[in-house]
Amino acid sequence: MTAPGPGGHLLVTGGAGFIGSCFVRDVLGRRDGTRITVLDKLTYAGNRANLGEVEADAGMASRFAFVRGDIADPAAVAPLVAAADAIVNFAAESHVDRSILEPAAFLRTGVDGVHVLLEALRAETERALRGERATAPRLLQVSTDEVYGSIEAGHAREADALAPRSPYAAAKAAGELLVRAYHATYGLDVVITRGSNTYGPFHHPEKLIPLFVTNALDDLPLPLYGDGLQRRDWLYVADHAGAIAHVLAHGATGGTYNIPGSAELTNRDLVARLLALLDKPWSLVRSVADRPGHDRRYAMDGRLLAALGWTNRVGLDEGLALTVAWYRDHEPWWRAARGGDWDAYYARQYAERLATSSVAEPAS
Ligand code: NAD
Ligand code: TYD
Repeated sequence: MTAPGPGGHLLVTGGAGFIGSCFVRDVLGRRDGTRITVLDKLTYAGNRANLGEVEADAGMASRFAFVRGDIADPAAVAPLVAAADAIVNFAAESHVDRSILEPAAFLRTGVDGVHVLLEALRAETERALRGERATAPRLLQVSTDEVYGSIEAGHAREADALAPRSPYAAAKAAGELLVRAYHATYGLDVVITRGSNTYGPFHHPEKLIPLFVTNALDDLPLPLYGDGLQRRDWLYVADHAGAIAHVLAHGATGGTYNIPGSAELTNRDLVARLLALLDKPWSLVRSVADRPGHDRRYAMDGRLLAALGWTNRVGLDEGLALTVAWYRDHEPWWRAARGGDWDAYYARQYAERLATSSVAEPAS
């Protein structure tokens, strides 16, 4: 098993989304000869504009190809996996609230899609064993801390039991289990990463940080679920993408690596920091009905990843400042991302909640 080095050809599935597009920009930006093909279905969350910087740069564009397609479609996947030295799978439906409203698409991409990728990888691994290609491709499955469920105290370690509590987290856990099973059964070269709550530029405005930043810029209410004392450990997107590239290159085959964030804090404290950066009042914050099954806390132990030689570079103060500045400077991007089914989704998720909301108690 050899991890792909500089100059290899990566297949990046879901590469037009938030974290995947950061990975593509940063890896091609190293200008070390690595080539990337993106396979992306361009769901409501996928956006070709997220790769605009790559396509506008002759040096990067010459090593980049984009294919629109579904990871659950074997005919689309097989030739792309055959041409790749490694696959990094970011493709997923990624929003917990949408998984509560309509879980089916989460299973289709997170379970069936992962299965299709694994079957293509299995075929290529068999070809390598027969000497029909030099090495078998490696798969890095991008997973999440949410597979551990709510961590009331302490920090989850990689060998801990999985206890997902939302349809999103259950689909991600199922995908991981398939990846592990194909490693054990067929000897596929796989690695898994479990990233923490991620934030930064190009984040779809349905998620907490970009939703609250863009609503605040428009002086719209900020719907804080429940008591707002849920805790998350925030990871800047370039650190998440960098850690994935590091694990792809250095991770042990069959290994799983937590990617913790740089700062754990309550949603209330996070919102207070965003409002201070935006110079907007706390009176925008509305206390609304909680998310069903809302996980109270996510927290992971990062010792395995640290031992592999990775350290996050961007702290929360710097990352939030960069993020707020980016949304201020990219209004056309986030207004366009609030197109498609946005109004219908927003009404379904928030109309009743906001109608029955109250002014939130100020953060401590
Ligand atoms: P995102 O929703 O911004 O991007 C997902 C991308 O996958 C989109 O471009 C979408 O078009 C594409 N896609 C969806 N279904 C597809 C399919 N069937 N075939 C091909 N492409 C498809 O999500 P993100 O926040 O960038 O997350 C990327 C990955 O990282 C996901 O697997 C997610 O579970 C994981 N993750 C995210 C976070 C986070 O905080 N955002 C944290 C940990 C792990
Ligand atoms: P989110 O960005 O959806 O990420 P995740 O559910 O993967 O942690 O939400 C982050 C936290 O913010 C989570 O505790 C739910 C909360 N939240 C709100 O209070 N209001 C909102 O409108 C949203 C989208 C999230």
